[in-house]
Amino acid sequence: MRVHGAKNSTLPLLAACLLCGGECVLHNCPQLSDVGITIQILRHLGCQVQREGSTVTVDSSQIHNFDIPDEWMREMRSSIVFLGAILARTGKAELSFPGGCELGPRPIDLHLSALKKLGVQIHEDHGRLHCSVRHGLRGKNIGFSFPSVGATENVMLATVLAKGTTVITNAACEPEICDLAAFLNACGARVQGAGSSTIVIQGVEHLHGCEHHVIPDRIAAATLLSAAAVTGSGILLRGIEPAHLEPVLPVFEEAGCELIVRGKELTIMPPERLSPLQSVRTMPYPGFPTDAQAPIMAMACVAQGTSVFVENIFESRYKHVGELTRLGARIKVEGRVAVIEGVGHLSGASVQAADLRGGAALVVAGLAAEGVTQVNHVRYIDRGYEHLEQTLAQLGANIVRLDD
Ligand code: EPZ
Repeated sequence: MRVHGAKNSTLPLLAACLLCGGECVLHNCPQLSDVGITIQILRHLGCQVQREGSTVTVDSSQIHNFDIPDEWMREMRSSIVFLGAILARTGKAELSFPGGCELGPRPIDLHLSALKKLGVQIHEDHGRLHCSVRHGLRGKNIGFSFPSVGATENVMLATVLAKGTTVITNAACEPEICDLAAFLNACGARVQGAGSSTIVIQGVEHLHGCEHHVIPDRIAAATLLSAAAVTGSGILLRGIEPAHLEPVLPVFEEAGCELIVRGKELTIMPPERLSPLQSVRTMPYPGFPTDAQAPIMAMACVAQGTSVFVENIFESRYKHVGELTRLGARIKVEGRVAVIEGVGHLSGASVQAADLRGGAALVVAGLAAEGVTQVNHVRYIDRGYEHLEQTLAQLGANIVRLDD
């Protein structure tokens, strides 16, 4: 089974296309509703955008807007990653505070304090942010108190065309940051150190278009591996980047799965009965990814023994726990800690997705449950998984999509 391109790389890459003033071609872009919204925002800003299958072409030679309408900000909080790119291209930007979401508050204090340091004036008026750059963006030393992925991306996008050099310390190290740096450098930027916690960006005069292949989605891969493990199915994943899965593969091995990596392919052979997970702590990359917490918790629900999860990244990323217990899981949550007592089997029920990865976790659990499980609000799942039901059906799952 082929793994689709990374959602969390595609979104900042599409925003980065604004900086080139020419034509960019992105291959391996996943067909997801979040990508659809991002393309709408680019068109609203003035770009010509064509999609053919997984290839998206963006021509940003004509930009005639600098705002992101409120409804799109509400629908997709990660639109905040446009802020740095719009400012760098037009010198001004207007968008809303991205509000709270299913994962708890989504503050953007790190984004805003960094942009102010770079010379951006920001004032808030009834929930809208009015940003402007009077004398051009100037490179600065930016130190983050937390290695925020989005804030790192925003500073990179805001400073590749700035005057002077920017040094980001305590930068996010996720593979999506490296993918963004590779794209920007292919467009003529000078970004060094991506993937480490110190990134140096030397501002250049202008960027040109380029052609780029989006990295595979490591979270979609981890989700498919959880589905295989929870149903005791051996599967082969193609088009993965093994290095990006290093934080999650040991967890599958601890659960008793045998994993064979050959180039860009990964085969998983699960045991008869999964072993429990002593302690799964979500951390910034290269630690265990918070986005894989829910699907892997679904797998742990049927392990033989007790597993412990600690969610260190988001304040409330356990919305799937209540729904998993409706399927017969035994889970106790105390603050950031979730204790899962493995059960012999789960039983199908009607459950509700409340966020992207939690929704995927309910599908994973439903695959192992006896009887039929109906997962409602699949629109959350469509934000980050390309035709999940078709993918799982091709892997042998008995799964259909009903009209919402
Ligand atoms: C990105 O979100 C991903 N989204 C998330 O994936 C992912 O969970 C997250 O990184 C962590 O890996 C995209 O890339 C589009 P953060 P982002 O800034 O950038 C706090 C998914 O399921 N914080 O690293 O928003 C924040 O509240 C999504 O695909 C501040 O306090 O993540 C959170 O607790 C969900 N102030 C933590 O840092 C800020 O200014 C991590 O946030 C920014 C963040």
